[in-house]
Amino acid sequence: MRITQDTLQKMRDDNEKIAILTCYDSSFATLLENAGVDILLVGDSLGNVLQGEESTLPVTLDDMIYHTRCVARGSSKAFIMADMPFGTSQVSPEDTFENAAKLMAAGANMVKLEGGSIMAETVEFMTRRGIPVCGHIGLTPQSVHQLGGYKVQGKTDYQAEQLMEDAVALEKAGAGMLLMEVVPATLAKQVTKTLSIPTIGIGAGIDCSAQVLVLYDMLGIYSGKKARFMKNFLAGAGSIHEAAENYVKAVKAGEFPGPEHAF
Ligand code: KIV
Ligand code: NA
Repeated sequence: MRITQDTLQKMRDDNEKIAILTCYDSSFATLLENAGVDILLVGDSLGNVLQGEESTLPVTLDDMIYHTRCVARGSSKAFIMADMPFGTSQVSPEDTFENAAKLMAAGANMVKLEGGSIMAETVEFMTRRGIPVCGHIGLTPQSVHQLGGYKVQGKTDYQAEQLMEDAVALEKAGAGMLLMEVVPATLAKQVTKTLSIPTIGIGAGIDCSAQVLVLYDMLGIYSGKKARFMKNFLAGAGSIHEAAENYVKAVKAGEFPGPEHAF
């Protein structure tokens, strides 16, 4: 049976950590879910790791539909989350719903979109009409040119307050999960305590309900320079399956991320 939003909420309520990896194809989908990965994230990071682009901005909705379908075909147990690529969630709630519907038809169980309070109206529109949504705040790579680079977010008191406001607004709008990317661990912990939905962290410390890594980073294939929050689980493992299993074990045991991976 496939993991559902209810399963994930129950895991969060029972303090069972949720293990997530990005996934872009059918073979890895099968391998990763058999290794115990709970959620397969079809991330727009595929722009970087598959397409060789410098950012996620060139990724199209058709790219995301194609890879979501590939992952869905190889999977029968994991929860499938698909990213809404740049330009497909920013225009209007109606336009966003239409785009998200295509990802859901391709096999997604939830879509993820970047942005805080500004996206609340859209999140409410979608969730009320049957499309589960995961918010994504902190470092939002689709806004890299506005942010002025890939930097830690929420470091000043003002930024931290804003991030907390964004988190609360998204939950209130109906978001089923919330991802925080590269934010101080203490802030991510506060947000996780404040919200009642599961939080997902990448470079956000140990206290989030779930952890995610880009599959290629977990396998030590770093596309750019190795970021602080990345860890190569293939080093010391006998196979890719074992690397994925070790990642899942480390997340479930609360051993990853360590303080050396956090900000
Ligand atoms: O696109 C992606 O892989 C992501 C994760 C890094 C959070 O959004
Ligand atoms: Na993404």
